[in-house]
Amino acid sequence: MLSFKDLNQQNLRPAQREWAAETAEKIRCKVAETSRHAAGKVPYSTVNGVFDDLSANIDSWCSGFWSALMWLMYTETQDESYAELARGVERKQDRCFRDFIGMSHDAGFRWLPTAVADFRLTGNPDSRQRGLHAATILAGRYIPACQIIRAWDGQPEPGQPDNRGWGIIDCMMNLPILYWATEETKDSRFRQIAMRHADRVMTTFVRADGSCEHIVAFDPDTGEKVRTYGGQGYADGSSWTRGQAWGLYGFTLSYIHTGKIAYLDTAKQIAHYFMANIPESGLIPVDFRQPPEPAWEDSTAAAIAACGLLELARRVDEGERQLYLNGALCLLKALSEKRCVFDLSNEAIVQKCSARYHEERHEYNIIYGDSYFAEAIFKLNGNDFLLW
Ligand code: GLY
Repeated sequence: MLSFKDLNQQNLRPAQREWAAETAEKIRCKVAETSRHAAGKVPYSTVNGVFDDLSANIDSWCSGFWSALMWLMYTETQDESYAELARGVERKQDRCFRDFIGMSHDAGFRWLPTAVADFRLTGNPDSRQRGLHAATILAGRYIPACQIIRAWDGQPEPGQPDNRGWGIIDCMMNLPILYWATEETKDSRFRQIAMRHADRVMTTFVRADGSCEHIVAFDPDTGEKVRTYGGQGYADGSSWTRGQAWGLYGFTLSYIHTGKIAYLDTAKQIAHYFMANIPESGLIPVDFRQPPEPAWEDSTAAAIAACGLLELARRVDEGERQLYLNGALCLLKALSEKRCVFDLSNEAIVQKCSARYHEERHEYNIIYGDSYFAEAIFKLNGNDFLLW
């Protein structure tokens, strides 16, 4: 496997290397300013270009992404003030353990870029405890009959779909906290659960053309696959782009943490589908199968997919490397040239993000657009730290 430094030196042309370095510098300069303005907040989006604050909704699945950006900045600069800003989020999240709120499958999204990052980078023992607590709660959501980690909570109600046996593609990104917990404790149960889940997702979510379902409903007692839902995408059978990106990056991560070749092959399959569907503009719609109008975009899908493609690029044979690297470059160039604000007219960097197809609001700032964009650019520029 190549380091990102070697990938940068061996596989980028001089102009591409220069572009990656300049873009990384623009991110560092902007975040140096915005992180001072946002001190004490847990930003999610912006209001009139100023970061809002998720602190009162710290049980949100998005509570970890500001911290992700802070730890990435810490790895780039070794500036302790970023560690302190990140730890502010980690401490706020403790309310979730205390009050047992928001304990869906999103433990990986929430605690990998806070407590686990803190432990990995500084060895903080309190952070290790928090990470193991989160992993244990996630493992407890495994449904043995379905061989799936249950996505969301809620009891069956008349007129509402019964979600007790639902798995969602996003959960592939939560599995790394289970791999980490096994690494840390030498207790293989965490990894076994993660791999059972990943194995079942391979056979029940990933379609023959490389696209993925968002939601698959299983019978929670028999484990039988019942049906699929379009979830945050356009419709059942469509192709929600962020879901494709979660699948692409998520299977890549499962390969990284287990070495299982079937996960690498699945990640490649999803990557090929994703790259084949990138529009000429390089800008990514909310759903690859949405109607042409309205042409809503989701820049977060591009940033997440770029991270996955870059991790793939350094793990495949030399002959395959350029394919994934070029895919990532195409997405990142389009974002940086057409969808990024590097000055302070808006505190967020990445524009035109959409949480879901069917909602009133589209194309606004979402913090994970910024964190995954920064992650991808820093990787391209030679940073090997893996948050996930
Ligand atoms: N994990 C939820 C989402 O991607 O919106």
